[in-house]
Amino acid sequence: MSPATTALFFLLLLFSTSNAHNITRILAKHPEFSTFNHYLTLTHLASEINRRETITVLALNNAAMSSLLSKQLSLYTLKNVLSLHVLVDYFGSKKLHQITNGTALTSTMFQASGAAPGSSGYINITDLKGGKVGFGAENNDGNIDAVYVKSVAEIPYNISVLQISQVLNSAEAEAPTAEPSKLNLTEIMSKQGCKAFADLLIASGADATFNENIDGGLTVFCPTDPVIKDFMPKYKNLTASKKVSQLLYHGVPVYQSMQMLKSNNGIMNTLATDGANKYDFTIQNDGEVVTLETKVMTAKITGTLKDEEPLIVYKINKVLLPRELYKPVEAPAESPKPSKSKSKSKHKIADAPESDAPAESDPADDQTADNDNGVAGLDGRRLVMGMLSLCIGVLLM
Ligand SMILES: *[C@@H]1O[C@H](CO)[C@@H](O)[C@H](O)[C@H]1NC(C)=O
Ligand SMILES: *[C@@H]1O[C@H](CO)[C@@H](O)[C@H](O)[C@H]1NC(C)=O
Ligand SMILES: *[C@@H]1O[C@H](CO)[C@@H](O)[C@H](O)[C@H]1NC(C)=O
Ligand SMILES: *[C@@H]1O[C@H](CO)[C@@H](O)[C@H](O)[C@H]1NC(C)=O
Ligand SMILES: *[C@@H]1O[C@H](CO)[C@@H](O)[C@H](O)[C@H]1NC(C)=O
Ligand SMILES: *[C@@H]1O[C@H](CO)[C@@H](O)[C@H](O)[C@H]1NC(C)=O
Repeated sequence: MSPATTALFFLLLLFSTSNAHNITRILAKHPEFSTFNHYLTLTHLASEINRRETITVLALNNAAMSSLLSKQLSLYTLKNVLSLHVLVDYFGSKKLHQITNGTALTSTMFQASGAAPGSSGYINITDLKGGKVGFGAENNDGNIDAVYVKSVAEIPYNISVLQISQVLNSAEAEAPTAEPSKLNLTEIMSKQGCKAFADLLIASGADATFNENIDGGLTVFCPTDPVIKDFMPKYKNLTASKKVSQLLYHGVPVYQSMQMLKSNNGIMNTLATDGANKYDFTIQNDGEVVTLETKVMTAKITGTLKDEEPLIVYKINKVLLPRELYKPVEAPAESPKPSKSKSKSKHKIADAPESDAPAESDPADDQTADNDNGVAGLDGRRLVMGMLSLCIGVLLM
């Protein structure tokens, strides 16, 4: 192979293996765990599992899940029960059968949640007669409720998914849980330097849309008070419905931790996204700095006000200006070919202090600026540039 082909080969290898594990995707290949998978997502345990680097999931098939669901526990209690089935250590099927002294206690995500009293967040794993392996909650009168059935997936030593025969009973995990106190978004923002933005949300009624999205996962980027103050003349110029779009543009209807933002460059839909009106922006990170790029300007994340899954609130140093409401820094491309120099110069302008605020640009008409090609072109450019730098890196190795 030529060096270039070798580089490309390593590149492809990198692309295919550098992704962290995704429990939802792993279980999706096994329909017998579809209910379990569904509830891992609903309880937000899936993203917690994906964030951990060394973890074992004791999977329950649909029959075992239906007996658990028949207890009609609340979603929050169900989360505790399911988190008891996630061990914060790696157990491959081999290690299971080679436990020192034939029995061990291991910690779970229920323990890690802080909701488990005493030692109720621990699981007893015991090698039984005939090569069987038993599992039971530590606080369960010494009962070993379930046995190991089979290995579903193993990625040493990141994630192991093992099927067990039935739910691990635990009075503590099944104890009724109070719903977590409702997160009051505008209050959180008001108390931490984003009062002006919170007030705009309330005055425009946009706060309702933000609140409706919290349970399902919400990321908010709030411009700080001085930033909003400078922006007010422009804001006042918008019609009522454009004001709402302008505000909704600062919410993304999924939970995105800082770690996720740092590892996921790409386009984000927002609460303002609606059919042809894309109202999206691009997350771009450079080392520790995460920026949000629209066609019009670039903002920077300067801090985190609140991180309590499913809600995370960041503060940013500029108001995000969507191209649907403001003129892009440059006229939309006439030809579909993405020009490198064009994107570069746009980048420069966008990065220049304050010049990103297009002082002379009035709110654009309702119709969407037609530079869809620009979006695709930008992605292509990034991919090519990333591939080039990786190739060079590999060649230098
Ligand atoms: C295990 O996780 C680490 C960190 O996320 C990752 O770099 C590594 O590629 C993963 N290993 C496998 C085999 O996927
Ligand atoms: C995990 O996989 C599911 C299904 O393929 C996908 O919807 C989800 O976005 C993935 N999660 C992450 C964090 O990549
Ligand atoms: C195994 O048992 C021996 C003797 O009872 C004890 O000294 C040792 O600490 C045990 N090891 C573990 C890992 O529990
Ligand atoms: C696990 O449970 C079994 C059966 O109740 C018990 O004999 C064993 O001592 C327990 N193991 C640990 C480490 O507590
Ligand atoms: C949030 O708190 C404010 C007062 O701090 C209150 O006026 C408002 O109704 C609360 N909003 C929600 C959705 O609970
Ligand atoms: C507001 O709109 C008017 C009329 O279109 C325009 O002259 C003025 O410059 C705009 N002001 C700002 C701050 O955008």
